[in-house]
Amino acid sequence: MYTFKDKYGEYLSLFESRLERFYDELKCSPQILDDSIKYSLKSGGKRVRPVLMLACAELLGVKISDVEDFALALELIHTYSLIHDDLPEMDNDDFRRGRPSNHKVFGVGNAVLAGDGLLNTAYYILFEKCSEGANFADAAKFMCGCAGVHGMIAGQSADLYCAEKAIKDRQMLDFIVENKTGRLISAAVAVPAIIAGGKNFIELNQFGEDLGRLFQIVDDILDEEGKFAKLGKTSGKDKSEGKLTYVTYYGLEQCRVYADILSDKCLALLDGLDGDVQFLRDVVSFVRYREE
Ligand code: IPE
Ligand code: IPE
Ligand code: MG
Ligand code: MG
Ligand code: MG
Repeated sequence: MYTFKDKYGEYLSLFESRLERFYDELKCSPQILDDSIKYSLKSGGKRVRPVLMLACAELLGVKISDVEDFALALELIHTYSLIHDDLPEMDNDDFRRGRPSNHKVFGVGNAVLAGDGLLNTAYYILFEKCSEGANFADAAKFMCGCAGVHGMIAGQSADLYCAEKAIKDRQMLDFIVENKTGRLISAAVAVPAIIAGGKNFIELNQFGEDLGRLFQIVDDILDEEGKFAKLGKTSGKDKSEGKLTYVTYYGLEQCRVYADILSDKCLALLDGLDGDVQFLRDVVSFVRYREE
């Protein structure tokens, strides 16, 4: 019988076995580089992006072996973004995934390099996939776009800029959220569609964008009222760092209403797809009601 927890666990263990192989493949020197990269990767995290990618692949009839390296590259890029996000000159966060942040253990210089190393390795993996055909090359290019200066980096830059200049503007808020978080979530669900020759690309990309908005609004709510024991990161930071977030702009009550609207939008988009979307529906609830 289907349960969300079991299915999530199934995708997770598929992904973790790819990660285990990656740890063997990586082995870089000096040892501190290897250690700092693996420290952050092995700290856990929900792995929601790779899980989403594997689930969308299954929905579209794409082989897991065709997407697992894309899932790996995406988790490497996500992990690098977190290491850099925590740096003193960015969000100045001392904890991540329940452990001291990378720079607290290895120092700022090594944390910058661990992040750089994760990003470069992700691109190496993506380049290798390009030779498997035009759809693979298109998927790799799409992911690079999501991660880059017109994607996640742009969102992170706007996030810093608005905090520094104390900007409170709805358009800027949307820009931050859509880019810093939305684009990597879109990559998770759209890459399988690109590999499948564009099947359901428009619907899944839209689903990714709305799920990304939902993901960040819940992250902002949890920053306000979540607990370290579950979150594995310090709460209350958005306010103290003067961040422009849904919560600092709208307040908690309105955020909850908006989160429910976004959940419904995600579910409506899934209704438009063929095949068994139960797991993806459950991911929407998981994202909406998560405490971690
Ligand atoms: C945290 O992402 C950063 C945001 C985009 C809000 P996750 O909540 O997916 O972090 P992990 O991977 O589970 O630690
Ligand atoms: C981070 O947003 C998004 C990226 C790292 C790209 P946040 O700064 O809100 O994430 P947390 O709360 O530190 O995980
Ligand atoms: Mg941040
Ligand atoms: Mg942060
Ligand atoms: Mg946050």
